[in-house]
Amino acid sequence: MSIQMLDGRKLFLIQTPHATYALAVDGRQRLRHVYWGAKISRPEDLPDLAGQQEAASANRWQAPQEYRTGEGFDFAEPALEAVFSDRVAGAQLAYRGSRIGQENGLDVLSIVLEDTHYPLEVTLQYRHYPGTDLISRNSVIRNTGREPIILKAMKSASLAMPRGYAWRLTHMAGNWAKEFQKEQLMLTHGKLVIENRRGTSSGPQAVPFFALDEQGQATAANGEVWYGVLHWSGDFSIALETDPFDQTAITAGISAAGSSWRLKPQEQLTTPLLTLGYSAAGFDAMSEALYDLQFDFLAPRAKAHQVRPIIYNSWYPYQFAIDEGKLLSLAEKAAAIGAELFVIDDGWFRGRTDDRAGLGDWVACPDRFPRGLEAIADRCHELGMQFGLWVEPEMVNPDSDLYRAHPDWVIHQPTREKTLQRNQLVLNFARDDVRDFAIAMLDRLIKDYRLDYLKWDMNRYMTEPGWPDATAGEEGSLKIRYLFNLYQVWDHLNRSHPQVLFENCAHGGARADFGMVPYADRINRSDNADPVDVMKLHEGFTTLFLPKTAGGAGNISPSPNTINGRVTPLSFRAHMGMMGSMSVGINLLQSPPEELSELRTWLETFKRLRPDLQDAYVYLLASAYRHPYAIFQYVNRARTATTLFAFGHGLNFQQQLPLIRLRGLQPDAVYTCEDGRRLSGQALMNRGVPIRLRGDYASHVETWRRHD
Ligand code: DGJ
Repeated sequence: MSIQMLDGRKLFLIQTPHATYALAVDGRQRLRHVYWGAKISRPEDLPDLAGQQEAASANRWQAPQEYRTGEGFDFAEPALEAVFSDRVAGAQLAYRGSRIGQENGLDVLSIVLEDTHYPLEVTLQYRHYPGTDLISRNSVIRNTGREPIILKAMKSASLAMPRGYAWRLTHMAGNWAKEFQKEQLMLTHGKLVIENRRGTSSGPQAVPFFALDEQGQATAANGEVWYGVLHWSGDFSIALETDPFDQTAITAGISAAGSSWRLKPQEQLTTPLLTLGYSAAGFDAMSEALYDLQFDFLAPRAKAHQVRPIIYNSWYPYQFAIDEGKLLSLAEKAAAIGAELFVIDDGWFRGRTDDRAGLGDWVACPDRFPRGLEAIADRCHELGMQFGLWVEPEMVNPDSDLYRAHPDWVIHQPTREKTLQRNQLVLNFARDDVRDFAIAMLDRLIKDYRLDYLKWDMNRYMTEPGWPDATAGEEGSLKIRYLFNLYQVWDHLNRSHPQVLFENCAHGGARADFGMVPYADRINRSDNADPVDVMKLHEGFTTLFLPKTAGGAGNISPSPNTINGRVTPLSFRAHMGMMGSMSVGINLLQSPPEELSELRTWLETFKRLRPDLQDAYVYLLASAYRHPYAIFQYVNRARTATTLFAFGHGLNFQQQLPLIRLRGLQPDAVYTCEDGRRLSGQALMNRGVPIRLRGDYASHVETWRRHD
């Protein structure tokens, strides 16, 4: 058991392989944060707070409260803000009890706190993922009384960093077609908030992730890193605040901006998980731990370790201009080059010949698909391919039968004009009838069209966030209930169709977050598949997410590229495609025979390399942010094989790359390259290997396997 409580002292310890997390109850029965960092094995080494009678306060060099409520002189960002029926605001939480137990193989610590006067109970939960240095925290907020309580802040957790250090923050920012751009800065006194308020997504302008290292000293392979990811796909905030006493605190969870929750008598609200990690070995170990979390605990279980099929997707070459004849011809070509899953993207349903109409009317367009989609599904299966379909269940075009029948189903404020984005409105998923409509519709599509794969897209943010039909007092919970119901739909899909692959797409990577990880087998990394831009996009993506989930409509993209018009050789695009969930988005009906045959060869190469790439860790050996080249190293989890991907663009003069030093291998093992070279793990990691990149858009791939 990784969790213990020292009874006499009410000290709680979570011991992970390399880290310790400690909290304790003080003499006033307040729960205080004691320690989070590198391992301290002896509990007696940690301070005893039992005799501490003084109120915790942000004005002193004291252990802050573990779940901050603004009590007394604590002026930091609160995790909880409650307003009671007598209009008194602010909670004062005292320790009431604790439980240590197990849940789904995880050790769980639950600490129950209760307001000193009002009927409000907060249970703080800590779960340790065995074998890792990861702990998930969240809170369960419960009204034990007879009057409603208004929650104006309901964060998952507040945290305290070791006091007195200067912290560098690593986070990610971006935009459509420019997701996962890493940014680093030193925190100063004051507050920095990483936040998204767009309602339907967590990103890509911000990503619910932070990492801190002292003075910017951590590197890829060395140094201490404290980090966290929030499992939430909507409005979130991560506030990092350093007070005048140099105490940096973090408060993270659902963004309270624009949301509140009216907690009915006896009702409880469970906040999303915030997974926290500590690495003593730099950023690589952080990513490895997050991968382990996905492989071993979070990714949809039945398919977590399956290889991802090679996809052919209709979007880049054809957009809305699709019909049965064209798709049947395409399916033949896709099967001939070696694709394993044929996906019809947007444009297949009634009224959908452009983005102005049809969203909501989920039946095959009778003019363009007179036999429905069944004929195409059957043909794909005959050709030995799986069959998949695009949907955007949360949206509706005003020009649709669904909207005409249910204008009240959209998020809107009756006194405001409805803002359109991509000619569409957002269906109010907070409504249970809308949720049930989506479940029935998706079940029907999966069954009728014999789907092996479903691509769930989401293409706009919330505006005018109103819910006129809400029960009085519950309007403020719109954005939160929207997400709860959204997860229920995804949960239903996974439970009812365990063999179907699901893609989480949100106009690219706008919903790439740990809230969605348990439900989706593939994540759209970006609508931008230009291979030069992917040199950077993939760096950010693989910092957090499994490379085999890195999706998109065509990781082998058309040239010229649809986003930026760049022309690149097929070899460069194909090697880039191999690093993620391989998909082809090329107009095969116009491809000359040489291109088709080259594509077939690249897909065969990928199939040969794929077993070692799927359940692999990724190390960034050279970053495109610093060099005119990028080198990614994949190491399978057994550490028996490693594959190097090198990409050059804009190399100057006679630029020679340094010997490239690998990581994560077994030092004493001997590895053999496909070309016959043999080197020990030590030599590969300490001296390195030469990589030659010549000319623009040069790429190179090599695999080393352990020689047993
Ligand atoms: C945005 C997605 O990211 C694309 O892959 C594609 O599916 C389009 N939407 C279709 O409208």
